[in-house]
Amino acid sequence: MSPTSILLVDDEPLMRLSMLDALKAVGYDVQAAATGNEGKDLLLKGQFDILITDLQLPGIDGLGLLQLCKEPSRRTEAIMITAHGSVETAVNAMKAGAYDYITKPFQMDELLLVVERLSKVQALKRENQQLRQQLEGKFNFQGIVGRNERMRAVLEKVKLVAGTDSTVLVVGESGTGKELVANAIHHHSPRKDQAFIKVSCAALPETLLEAELFGHEKGAFTGALRQRKGRFELAHRGTLFLDEIGEISLVVQVKLLRVLQERQFERVGGNETIEVDVRLICATQKDLKKEVTQGRFREDLYYRLNVVPIMLPPLRERREDVLMLAEHVLGNRSEHVKKAIKGLSPAAEELLLRYSFPGNVRELENMIERAVALGREREEIQPWDLCGYATCPFLGGMPQETCGFCSEGLTGRIERKDASESLATARERFEREYILSVLAQTEGSKTMAAKILGLSRKGLWEKCKRYGIAIGATEPEED
Ligand SMILES: Nc1ncnc2c1ncn2[C@@H]1O[C@H](COP(=O)(O)OP(=O)(O)OP(=O)(O)O)[C@@H](O)[C@H]1O
Ligand SMILES: [Mg+2]
Repeated sequence: MSPTSILLVDDEPLMRLSMLDALKAVGYDVQAAATGNEGKDLLLKGQFDILITDLQLPGIDGLGLLQLCKEPSRRTEAIMITAHGSVETAVNAMKAGAYDYITKPFQMDELLLVVERLSKVQALKRENQQLRQQLEGKFNFQGIVGRNERMRAVLEKVKLVAGTDSTVLVVGESGTGKELVANAIHHHSPRKDQAFIKVSCAALPETLLEAELFGHEKGAFTGALRQRKGRFELAHRGTLFLDEIGEISLVVQVKLLRVLQERQFERVGGNETIEVDVRLICATQKDLKKEVTQGRFREDLYYRLNVVPIMLPPLRERREDVLMLAEHVLGNRSEHVKKAIKGLSPAAEELLLRYSFPGNVRELENMIERAVALGREREEIQPWDLCGYATCPFLGGMPQETCGFCSEGLTGRIERKDASESLATARERFEREYILSVLAQTEGSKTMAAKILGLSRKGLWEKCKRYGIAIGATEPEED
């Protein structure tokens, strides 16, 4: 791995030289500049991991250089050098996004320590990013993301069945990715350059659905002013995707059975027999077997459709996929709207892991899309960006209504199969959860919550700050 690259900007020659020597001696790749403008030119020319800059410089100053580092295309983190007694400017620099600051006069060891810490954080971030990319590649097939065991089996099946002409029945709750799977099968099949036709069987009444599927002759029924080809004909040599197949009437079921058995049919109101070569993929949220026993679905048709069944598990049964999916959508969305979002905050991640997602991946997608729209550039997504409720209890507001996301997040328990965390981590997690549930109980009243918890208001404020619970920006006076 290449050494950490550093840009050092200081106008005092002696300081600059001693820092340069000290940093080079430990093996960093360092370039130095004597003025802000010189530093800016170097920053714009190359990619540095770290900028170490004096705040006060002739020309463009340290804060100006820091701003350049914060541009989305840059990955440079800044360490600011401040004059003794100028705490306020140091605070401003931190607010503007500096990683840390160091006050003059300082020992070289102090500087080296800060640099070493930052370079470790950066290495970890890079590692995470690489890992994420690798995971995405391995656990992503045609946009279907999942590392859960059942999802991996689904992906294997999708790959295998794509190469055949077999009829596929995709079953799963709303938003679990049935259409995505149908798309992937077609686009990975030898028919990929031919038509991919979709019909939503629930959207049309029986007679219209029949005409839609098989076409009609001129005058077949009132309003049939000219001959029209049906979806089966349009899908010739390609794939036909019949969505919500559980909704079709018994009459249409008979016709469908015939096409599947004989590969031929007549248009509504016509005599000509039409032969087609169509690969069929069907999807349903229903338990078709149950529909069969209750007499609503023909058994013979069921067996014809259920040649290769693909069952998509609901998201609540594959929680290990939640964060990967969230990152996947976050990457796509922020790229789409050109907004550099830093990622999910630990609190947001925790809530996502707890939530049951009745709307499955579609609901998660909508949540992230909203968060990207509401979230602030270069900052992490917070729980309240996800739910979008202005009166979210997390914000300390009085919720007029609590959305399912929050109430579950506040009271729910994560199933933890691995008992691998340290006592300190477990204690912190418990503290955080408990504070959240007390805040929910007091409907955001900090005074009451502090009383119940046996803390001062300042004490509660400090804990909340530590655990990323938003309860107001101003620190309360000691009481
Ligand atoms: N495993 C997955 N990886 C990535 N995106 C997914 C996954 N599953 C679903 N999605 C996304 O979630 C959204 C909903 O998926 P899709 O439309 O395929 O669901 P569905 O099962 O057909 O839902 P419905 O029954 O409501 O029609 C889509 O935008 C899809 O891209
Ligand atoms: Mg669908």
